Amino acid sequence: MPGSKRPGALNMQARPLDTSGYTLSLDANLSPHNSLRVTARASLLARLHDATKLPELLGHAATQHGGDVLVLGEGSNVLFTADYTGMVVLMATRGVWVEEQDNQVSMAVAAGERWDDFVRWTLTQGFSGLENLILIPGTVGAAPIQNIGAYGVEVAEFIDSVETFDTCKQAVTILDKTACAFGYRDSVFKHVPGRYIVTAVRFTLPRQQSLHLEYAGIRQELKRMGVSRPAAFHVAQAIGQLRTRKLPNPAHIANAGSFFKNPFLNAEQALALKKTHPDLPMWSQADGRYKLSAAWLVEAAGFNKGYREGDAGISRRHALVLVNHGKASGAAIWALGQRVMEEVYKTFGIHLSTEPQVIGNRGVS
Ligand code: EPU
Repeated sequence: MPGSKRPGALNMQARPLDTSGYTLSLDANLSPHNSLRVTARASLLARLHDATKLPELLGHAATQHGGDVLVLGEGSNVLFTADYTGMVVLMATRGVWVEEQDNQVSMAVAAGERWDDFVRWTLTQGFSGLENLILIPGTVGAAPIQNIGAYGVEVAEFIDSVETFDTCKQAVTILDKTACAFGYRDSVFKHVPGRYIVTAVRFTLPRQQSLHLEYAGIRQELKRMGVSRPAAFHVAQAIGQLRTRKLPNPAHIANAGSFFKNPFLNAEQALALKKTHPDLPMWSQADGRYKLSAAWLVEAAGFNKGYREGDAGISRRHALVLVNHGKASGAAIWALGQRVMEEVYKTFGIHLSTEPQVIGNRGVS
């Protein structure tokens, strides 16, 4: 629970150098720090407990390790295709600062808090809004970067601002919601990679939020549970059950959630495809475009659920998710991902884009 003591923060490399506010380990193993569990090493691994020490830590990286820095939360949205020759910073900051108003609450949450713990804590406090975003792996600091979304809700709806350290200005900078430029699985943080390091996220949550029950399966799940007048915690329970059935659990099989984003087409292109492929699921958007199911495209291009190339494969549960059955290298998973993209392009003329950050050596795609 946010604010409580975290034994998990003690899970660090053998004999790290302990400086106040962060610990440092040389030539560190990254496999415990990426949910695809690929083998990779970082020249330097820092575990940051105190965000005010960030400038000092970055100074250390600049003078001794070439200045390249990669910030990770739980590593649930990255694919390492090679060792990382700069410094990896694990955000391990904790804390929630709450300010209650009449019918809503504003809170600032440290970047290193676990997202799912935070969602559950808000529900126990009687705040609603985040119930559809239950069980998403990762940290609070990672949530605005890809504007996490599930079951008809995107986190941007509840974000007021994001507190960052701006590495260009070398200063703490607060980006309001407009400056964050949120879109579908997108934000300013993806457009200027490396510039902003998220240190905290400020949310406003209502005491009473109208529930989002439109997404396929939610109402049926509530019915199965025997709930006719759902509260936010019922919705969280229903979505938790849906996710558990439909998506592979990274604790059981290594994965990084959706590997591809759902593509958007203009109405003319989408409707032409619908004629030749009437089963292709698509949803009209407010801007006139259509969002297509990438999972369907992947399967229709020949990559069925459960497809495998060695230890790299497509999840048995969901075609959007690439999995590591054990010893797949990052390069092998990336090769499979690229093959899927090529086949989808050959079959439908659609470019899929990847959702996780693909990190090779110093570079980030
Ligand atoms: N579908 C398939 N094959 C599959 C799975 C789905 O053809 O293996 C088709 C079905 O027709 C289904 C449609 O795709 O009706 C949509 O499927 P789903 O509801 O699972 O949603 P999605 O668009 O594939 C998105 C998010 C998920 C999120 C779900 C539920 C993206 C890239 N992914 O998937 O997010 O859990 O909606 O809201 O937008 C993640 O980001 O890591 C993630 C898992």
